[in-house]
Amino acid sequence: MTTVLVLGANGKIAKLAEDRFFADGDLKVKLFLRNASRLDSANTKDAEIIEGDVTDESTLAAAVKGVDVVYANLAGGNIEDQAKAVVQALDAQNVKRLIWISTLGIYDEVPGKFGEWNNKTLGSYITNYAAAAKVLEDSDLDYTIIRPAWLTNHDEVAYETTQRDDTFKGTEVSRKSVADFVYKLVKSPTQEVRHSVGLNKPNTDGDKPAWY
Ligand SMILES: NC(=O)c1ccc[n+]([C@@H]2O[C@H](COP(=O)([O-])OP(=O)(O)OC[C@H]3O[C@@H](n4cnc5c(N)ncnc54)[C@H](OP(=O)(O)O)[C@@H]3O)[C@@H](O)[C@H]2O)c1
Repeated sequence: MTTVLVLGANGKIAKLAEDRFFADGDLKVKLFLRNASRLDSANTKDAEIIEGDVTDESTLAAAVKGVDVVYANLAGGNIEDQAKAVVQALDAQNVKRLIWISTLGIYDEVPGKFGEWNNKTLGSYITNYAAAAKVLEDSDLDYTIIRPAWLTNHDEVAYETTQRDDTFKGTEVSRKSVADFVYKLVKSPTQEVRHSVGLNKPNTDGDKPAWY
């Protein structure tokens, strides 16, 4: 039985991943989120629910204790501080495996006009997320950083991957695809360890995401 802790458990990708975790009888699930009253206990099976902010050291430490894998689906202007708090908690509790949702563009790996548009549109969001990714890369954790393209809510699982030093492909990917990839990583703990993986829907190259 693998125990997975979800940080930011009310996030949109997180909820899709949780559906996959709940359907898997070999996973024990812990859900960590701010304002836990938003979760409907009818939909969370027998998951353990912990209310907290990841920057609250003692609450996070207690949540991380004894888990096999942490999946962080976090966001915000203080994402670098959140990364530091998460790395510190995993180190302190001797937990090695971390799956971290980041974004495209943190290595200036998005080519051409789309890359220029992405940088301009996202601005300091990218530099904040790059700084957070560096916190993980400077740690000795078994992390996987996921860099999704622009997210859609399409009901589809269709994606390909690129590695850190590859040119990013495509413009979009569905949240359901990211959740699928997260689930596969949770089930295969040695896959993509210390890798930073770009995720995109095949054949979606363009100067902007299709809906812009
Ligand atoms: N939109 C795009 O096209 C795109 C593309 C690539 C990557 N991304 C990134 O992918 C990530 C996941 O996407 P998503 O759609 O699942 O995002 P989301 O729905 O905004 O989920 C992020 C979650 O992080 C939680 N969170 C933020 N700060 C926290 C803290 N200090 N402690 C605990 N929880 C905290 C939020 O909690 P609350 O619910 O309490 O606010 C929220 O539920 C985000 O970082 C997003 O920026 C987005």
